[in-house]
Amino acid sequence: MTKRIVHIVLLESSLELVPFEIAGHSSVIRSAKKRGKKPSEILLDKSLHYHAMKKLREAEKRGRPDIVHVSLLEALESPLNKEGFLRIYVHTYPGDVIFIDPSTRIPRNYNRFVGLMEQLLTIGKVPPDTAKPLMYVKTMRIEDLIENVNTHGLILLRETGERKKPIEVVEYAIKNNYLIGIGGFPHGDFSEKLIKISKAEFSIYDRTLATWIVLSRIIVAAEAYYGLL
Ligand SMILES: C[S@@+](CC[C@H](N)C(=O)[O-])C[C@H]1O[C@@H](n2cnc3c(N)ncnc32)[C@H](O)[C@@H]1O
Repeated sequence: MTKRIVHIVLLESSLELVPFEIAGHSSVIRSAKKRGKKPSEILLDKSLHYHAMKKLREAEKRGRPDIVHVSLLEALESPLNKEGFLRIYVHTYPGDVIFIDPSTRIPRNYNRFVGLMEQLLTIGKVPPDTAKPLMYVKTMRIEDLIENVNTHGLILLRETGERKKPIEVVEYAIKNNYLIGIGGFPHGDFSEKLIKISKAEFSIYDRTLATWIVLSRIIVAAEAYYGLL
């Protein structure tokens, strides 16, 4: 029997290339020019494209790639990952899924992380010229991701869910072979579609927490579950 590991997906994450609707906005053209790139090749960033983003739907959920940066550093450098008990996926707001080899070293420098994500989302994989990339992107539905990674369903961590301790969430997910979903966005809620397909919703605290805090509590609980720390 294969060993049961923890599968976590950051859902509807605030990571995307500048969408075409605002590619012509002056703030977007300016920030692309500064970096010698086309507007369609740079990441949407609320701190740079605030005015342009006013036109976008669900703007409050978008343009925060730093959330994915901090979260991936937390996940990939954890003992849980180093011991082979974790797979983490990034589902983006526009609907791509980033598959990440557990041995990937995410740049600690934010600007380097941005460059790497731009290369990944533009070309589809990094490094670009290898058959076995460290990261690659596929446009897919969450239902297909669940199947693709051999899990039996999705559970959501959500403020309004049933209150549980992180260790209980981990035990439940491992026992049922469920993918654990955490929102990778700064404000707002999961789309109706995700809420509809989820098998259960759990809250770990009575207030809203940042993505990386929820992620770290789940990782620490899983490290305790496997007796790593
Ligand atoms: C910053 S929150 C998302 C935005 C938040 N819903 C708001 O409107 O301010 C990021 C994610 O962390 C998770 N989360 C935050 N607080 C939580 C809690 N108390 N219990 C469980 N998950 C939580 C959820 O998955 C949520 O989507």
